[in-house]
Order: sequence, then C-alpha cells, then structure tokens
Amino acid sequence: MADTVKFGIIGCGMIAEFHRTGIEKSPVAELLAVSDSVPGRAAEFAKKHGVPHAFEDYRKMLQLKELQAVCICTPSGLHAEPAIAAANAGKHILCEKPLDVTLEKIDALLEAVRRNGVKLGAIFQSRVQPDCVRVKKAIDDGLLGRILQADLRTKWYRPQSYYDSGAWRGTFALDGGGCLMNQGIHGIDLYQWLVGPVTAVYGKVATMNHKIEVEDSAYAICELEGGGRGVIMGSTCAYPGFPTRIEIHGENGSICLEDARIVSWDIIGQEKPADLQIGSGAGVGGAGDPKAISSYGHETLVDDLARAILEDRPPRISGEEARRAVAIILAIYQSSRLGQPVTIAY
Ligand SMILES: NC(=O)c1ccc[n+]([C@@H]2O[C@H](COP(=O)([O-])OP(=O)(O)OC[C@H]3O[C@@H](n4cnc5c(N)ncnc54)[C@H](O)[C@@H]3O)[C@@H](O)[C@H]2O)c1
Repeated sequence: MADTVKFGIIGCGMIAEFHRTGIEKSPVAELLAVSDSVPGRAAEFAKKHGVPHAFEDYRKMLQLKELQAVCICTPSGLHAEPAIAAANAGKHILCEKPLDVTLEKIDALLEAVRRNGVKLGAIFQSRVQPDCVRVKKAIDDGLLGRILQADLRTKWYRPQSYYDSGAWRGTFALDGGGCLMNQGIHGIDLYQWLVGPVTAVYGKVATMNHKIEVEDSAYAICELEGGGRGVIMGSTCAYPGFPTRIEIHGENGSICLEDARIVSWDIIGQEKPADLQIGSGAGVGGAGDPKAISSYGHETLVDDLARAILEDRPPRISGEEARRAVAIILAIYQSSRLGQPVTIAY
C-alpha cells in the first residue's frame, strides 16, 4: 500500500465535510484529528466519522507528532493564524478560499510557509474542472490569439438567513467582504488564471438588499496585462442564483464558460474539436445554496496535496497563486472607496 499522509481539520463546520470526503476518498490520505473552538463540535464530528482525535484548541492538535498536514476550514479572517501555527509546527497546509482577508496576513502566511519549508495548497475548485483546464490550455496555446475582452458574471443569491446563520458571515473582520470576497472569488480566481494578470480595476460596490456590513453587489472594469479589457461583476441579490459565466473574446474567436462548463467555442475558420461536447462538462454549483456544490474539486485538491507531500513537488494551486484573487478584490474595494482606478502589484 502506498504511504498515506495523516491530516487534521481545523474548523468542523460546513466545508469541513468536503475536506473529510476528499481525505476519505484519497488512497494517500487519512484523517487523524479534528479541532473546533466550539466546545463539543470536534468531538461530535470525530464520533460521527470515526476520527481518532478531537480537540477544542487546534494548537494541541498541532502537537500530534504523526500529524503531517492540516485543512484550514475556519472563517475566512481566521485562516492565516492557524495556518501560520501549523507551518511553525512543521505541518503542511491545505487552505480554504480566501487565504485570508488582508494581504498583510496572507504575506505573513506565505513567509511562514517558506521559512518552515512546508507546502501550502489552496482550494479553488473551479480550476481543476476538466472544461476549465481545457480552456486554460487553449488560451495558453494561443488559440484565441490576443485577448481583447473578458467578462465575469457571478449573479448568485443568498437570503438574509444565510448571513444570519453565523456571526462571522457578512462582516469585514471575518468574511473580509461580501459577494466578491466570499462568493465571487471562485470566478475571480478562474478569470485571472485564464486571462490575467489583472493589472488595474475601476470598481463600485454597494449593499443593496441585505443587513450586512459588506457588499452584495459589485461591478468593476478591469485592465489585463496583455492589453485586454473586461468587466467583473458579482452579486448575492440575484434570486434564485444564476450560473457563474465567463465570456472570453480574442482576435481569433470566443469561448464561454458557464458554471465551469464550456458552453460555446467559436474559432474563426475552425470546426469545434471533435471530442468537445458543448455544455456537457461537470458544474461546481453554489449559485443559490452554498452546500449544493460538487465535491470533485475538494477531492482532487486534497489528493493533490497529499501526493505533493509524498512526491515532494509543489501543490497544484500554490499560495502565491491564491493570493492574486484577494489582491484583485481588495483593489476593487479600494477603488470603490476612492472613486478612481487602482493598479494592482502582485
Ligand atoms: N470552497 C468552497 O466552495 C467553500 C464553500 C463554503 C465555505 N468555504 C470557506 O470555508 C471557510 C469556512 O466556511 P464554512 O461555511 O464551513 O463556515 P462554518 O461557520 O460552517 O464553519 C467554520 C467552523 O470553524 C470553527 N472555528 C472558528 N474559529 C475557530 C478556531 N479558532 N479554531 C477552530 N475552529 C474554529 C467554527 O466553530 C465553525 O465550526 C470559509 O473561509 C469559507 O470561505 C469554501
């Protein structure tokens, strides 16, 4: 049997179940311990799933010698703190999106990861969907030529009860933002991976229909490094929630994705690839219900981190890569506050 990597989970809430499933399905991963600061929550999770160890304080969990890696599943503004502690304890890390909610905290995490020689993988499940990988390759191979325009639309829906379901939701300190930092970040990461880097944004965000501190509506005009232009928009006001859509237009044609599926592929003077079945790819979900997401991405990325550790290679989505989406979102917020464009340095 292949070696297995022993994982712990920090934060036993909604998304922890997806990490647990990923660990369970991977032949090279094993769940050794869980922790949650709410008394009894980790013990309950451990009992339900037959996990050997449960802790209230993640620092105690990090003292387990056999523990090799941790999944960070705490609220977004509480990612860097346990992740840095994990890095300092010599544990590898798989961190939920966003890496954290400020670039200062993210940079402190990246520094701790470098200093301790551990691996940091990030969760952005759309990137590993086969249709998205296919579009990335097509763009990198030059199929579209120079990218002229690229637009991202994340018109999702969250009722007020979603924000009321956890004290951290919809707060600047712990959610870091609203429809961009929590929901739209999936599409923003995918967008910038496909057509970025995004070098400047001119944004306007607002809170239209929820009692929250953060935005539930956002628009930004973007400049791309290659000279192209585009629009990023996000919402959690759009009942019942519509699939995330990315439309990419280059000199040679256009490709569109909807919920991580290729829905159009039109290249001037070329037939569609024979093996491409438009609209048949797997989706990722989440537009109307945060729990209604595919577990494929988490399974793939948990397995990838375990193999990256065993093979001593970089994980598929690095910390430096995952920082980019947060930099774009924070620049949109800053632009909205200033009422002027903001350039982004990575
Ligand atoms: N990739 C995705 O599609 C996806 C989907 C949902 C959530 N997320 C991300 O996952 C993270 C968690 O979201 P959620 O919906 O699971 O939230 P949640 O509120 O359901 O769970 C968070 C858990 O962390 C625990 N916690 C808080 N502080 C802690 C600490 N210091 N130590 C240990 N445990 C602590 C809470 O008690 C809670 O059980 C967020 O960053 C969110 O952005 C990602």
